[in-house]
Amino acid sequence: MPVKNRQSQAYLMENQEEGKRLELKTDKEAVKRQAAWAGIGPGMRVLDVGCGMGITTQALAELVGENGHVTGLDFSEERLAIARERYGSDHVSFVCHDIHNPYQSDKPYDAMWTRFFLEYFRAEQQQIIVHSVASLKTGGIACLADLDNNSLGHSGMSERLQQTLLDVISRLEKDFDFDPYAGRRLYGHLYNLGFQDLACTVEIHHLIYGEIEEKDNYNWLRKVEVAAQKSGCPFTAYGGSFEAFHSEVQAFMSDPRRFTYTPLIIARGIKTA
Ligand SMILES: C[S@@+](CC[C@H](N)C(=O)[O-])C[C@H]1O[C@@H](n2cnc3c(N)ncnc32)[C@H](O)[C@@H]1O
Repeated sequence: MPVKNRQSQAYLMENQEEGKRLELKTDKEAVKRQAAWAGIGPGMRVLDVGCGMGITTQALAELVGENGHVTGLDFSEERLAIARERYGSDHVSFVCHDIHNPYQSDKPYDAMWTRFFLEYFRAEQQQIIVHSVASLKTGGIACLADLDNNSLGHSGMSERLQQTLLDVISRLEKDFDFDPYAGRRLYGHLYNLGFQDLACTVEIHHLIYGEIEEKDNYNWLRKVEVAAQKSGCPFTAYGGSFEAFHSEVQAFMSDPRRFTYTPLIIARGIKTA
């Protein structure tokens, strides 16, 4: 499926504070647990596609240990510069590459890991996976992890907030190639591409009730400030005011009666010849 317009080639969440958002929300122990579930372990050579600030790359490096190697791949030179400075070593390297093109490495990888990445490529997900496994050896592990029902799992919202949020998400799907249901498609992609020994698991990524933690509050408000504002939504139910919409989101997130959850789906498979 072709990309619909130019907007979809840019990273939806791009803004000056994206590094901070990624840093605050990334739990290294969760990455290690999820990657170990997929079969990633000591001594492996791993490619981390869409590595952002390199925190996930470092988590994977701790999992593969001294005899392994992890390459973090991203197309943001700015985030990669920070990642290199913080985590670069004999066992951890970073490469700047736009995954709209296949990533070819001189040395094949034992595993390819990607998380919170395919959600940004609704129309091209399968092609992006093909590009990401171009350097994965036959018999290597592909592990894909993404959210499902992304940004839509709330209870306690007003009708107008719920409807506006749905409008925002549908505009992001149509004009920015965003996929709020990326998680549920991962298994099908691996199946269609002929991967073997498929396995899937589901875990909870956000589970927010009662008082909200500062890191969750920051993450949700940044999502709204960046993605909702870019979406082109007219905010008609708020008299055309983004600020009024934002204030209601803020009040909703700070209300201890609110319930918010997002499932994370992980699929892994083995590359065949
Ligand atoms: C949400 S962050 C990923 C976070 C990280 N993988 C994790 O698990 O926390 C998405 C990253 O994908 C990168 N990205 C977006 N489009 C890309 C592309 N076409 N090629 C390579 N990287 C891209 C962005 O620069 C950003 O750092």
